[in-house]
Order: sequence, then C-alpha cells, then structure tokens
Amino acid sequence: MPSTPVLRFHDGRSIPQLGFGVWQVAPEQTADVVSRALEAGYRHIDTARGYNNEHGVGRALAASGLDRDEVFVTSKVPNQDQGREATLASFDATMADLGLEELDLYLIHWPAPERGLALETWRTLVELQAAGRIRSIGVSNFRIEDLEMLERETGVLPVLNQIELHPYFGQAELRAFHADMGIRTESWSPLGQGGGELEDPVITRIAESHGASAAQVVLAWNLALGNIVIPKSVTPERIVANLASRELSLSAQEVEAITALDKGPEGRRGGNPAGFSGHQGR
Ligand SMILES: NC(=O)c1ccc[n+]([C@@H]2O[C@H](COP(=O)([O-])OP(=O)(O)OC[C@H]3O[C@@H](n4cnc5c(N)ncnc54)[C@H](OP(=O)(O)O)[C@@H]3O)[C@@H](O)[C@H]2O)c1
Repeated sequence: MPSTPVLRFHDGRSIPQLGFGVWQVAPEQTADVVSRALEAGYRHIDTARGYNNEHGVGRALAASGLDRDEVFVTSKVPNQDQGREATLASFDATMADLGLEELDLYLIHWPAPERGLALETWRTLVELQAAGRIRSIGVSNFRIEDLEMLERETGVLPVLNQIELHPYFGQAELRAFHADMGIRTESWSPLGQGGGELEDPVITRIAESHGASAAQVVLAWNLALGNIVIPKSVTPERIVANLASRELSLSAQEVEAITALDKGPEGRRGGNPAGFSGHQGR
C-alpha cells in the first residue's frame, strides 16, 4: 500500500499530510467510521472536544491493534473551555475519552477574540506540552493578528494553523504568512464540504483527464500546495477514494488553474474567526 507523505514541524515532530476528519460524524457512528478509515490506511485522525465523538475515536484506536505511535491524533480546546483552569479540565476529559496518555497535537479551536482568553489558553498549551502531555501545539482559525500576538507575547509559535481552505477559498495571504513564519497550513473543509467545487467545470475537466474524481483532484491540489488535509466522509467508498488522492499528481498548470478559482471572502463556507465564538462544535 502506498504511504502518506509526512511533513515536518518546526518543533522537530512530523504529521501525515493526509488525515481523516470527524466533524459531524454522529457519536454512535464514530467508532465504526474511524475503524473503517484506519483499515483503509489513514494514520491521522482529526477530532475536537466540540465534536462530541472523541469517545468513539478512542474506541476505534483501541480496537485497531495499531501501536500508539502509528496513529497521529489531533484534538482541540472548544471556545467555552478557554482560560487556564477550563482548558486543563477539558484536556483531561479529551484524554479520558480518547484513552490516550499523550496527544500528538492539541489546538485552540478558534481565537474567539471577544473572549480575550486565547493568550492564556495558549500559555496553558505550552504548559501541557512542557509536562509531556502533548507532543505538538497549534491553533485553528487564527488570523495573522492572532498569530502575531502569540509570537509577541510568548515567543512560541504554533506548529500549524488549521483553517478553512478549498479552491473557492484559497487563503493565499494567510498561507504566505504561515510559510514566512515556518507554520504549517492545515485545510479544514478541504473538499469545500462536498459543495460547488466538485461540480466546477475546471475541476471536473482535470478529473476526467486523470480518470479521477473531482474530490480526488481537489485533495491533490491541496496536497500540491503543501497543505495538510483532513477530509471527512462516512461513506465507505469515499473514505477509500479520498485517501487515494495521495497518488494523484497534478501538473503545475493544473494547480494554477484550480488556484485561480479563488472567490476571496465570498468563497468562505464556515464561521468567520473575527466574530465566531459560538458553540457550534466545528
Ligand atoms: N477547525 C475547525 O474550525 C474546523 C471546521 C470544520 C471542519 N474541521 C475539520 O475538517 C474536517 C473536514 O471538513 P468538513 O467535514 O467540514 O468538510 P469536507 O471534508 O470538505 O467535506 C465533507 C463533506 O463532503 C462529502 N464528501 C466526502 N468525500 C467525498 C467525495 N469523495 N465525493 C463527494 N463528496 C464527498 C461528505 O459526505 P459523506 O460524509 O456523506 O460521505 C461530507 O458531506 C472535519 O471533519 C473536521 O475534522 C475543522
């Protein structure tokens, strides 16, 4: 079986570039779906306290027979658990549900600017990492100003920023900032949530010419840009097919044509980090 490329972080650790996301996988379905993903060959699972399904991820990991170090696991502190004490308690609950001693990657889920707790939460992640409970620490949905604040106040940069990113919302400016800072870009909703991109004629034409699906082309584009991707599916054939995108190589012209589909802010499908601080569980 081909293997997934691995990308190195600035902290010396590394991550499989293609993983499996579980937002909106029902709690009672999660163990089966994640088991299927692990059987298909995924070795990187992206969950969050807010997804209410960490327990199912933990059950699948335990049942897999895989060694701890063979699977990379990410979770996230929800907005309502920001701040030192709440984050420590939230982390313990996450680890109990996942059944793990040490987490590969822990993220602040959203900057939630009006709460004003992102910095304190970041310091708590630094503390948990120093205590050996987390291997790498990162953030999600952080804007340039949020990343600059972390660097200014703590001198510790996240290994990655997990952000909404798909062909209609390409995030060129934030990606360039990450590249300058040595922060990896991780794409959430890398398939655009199975929306318009998968019917876009530019993408379907490229897919036809490779004998691939539009979803595989969109994932291969993301991989070609150097992004980490975490597509979600509960459909057995899609779980397998999405992983096979790691074998699809696009030409520079094809990558450029897909990048040119960017719609700027109009392409956004999820919450805007400037204002989003709700409990929607993303
Ligand atoms: N940090 C954050 O704030 C944040 C926000 C959103 C998401 N995420 C993470 O990113 C992961 C992925 O994002 P996402 O779940 O929003 O969207 P996504 O992976 O872009 O798309 C998932 C949707 O596309 C469908 N799909 C999957 N494979 C397909 C294929 N080959 N062909 C056609 N349709 C396909 C799925 O349907 P079926 O399941 O029915 O097959 C589902 O409806 C999440 O699971 C989560 O881990 C993080």
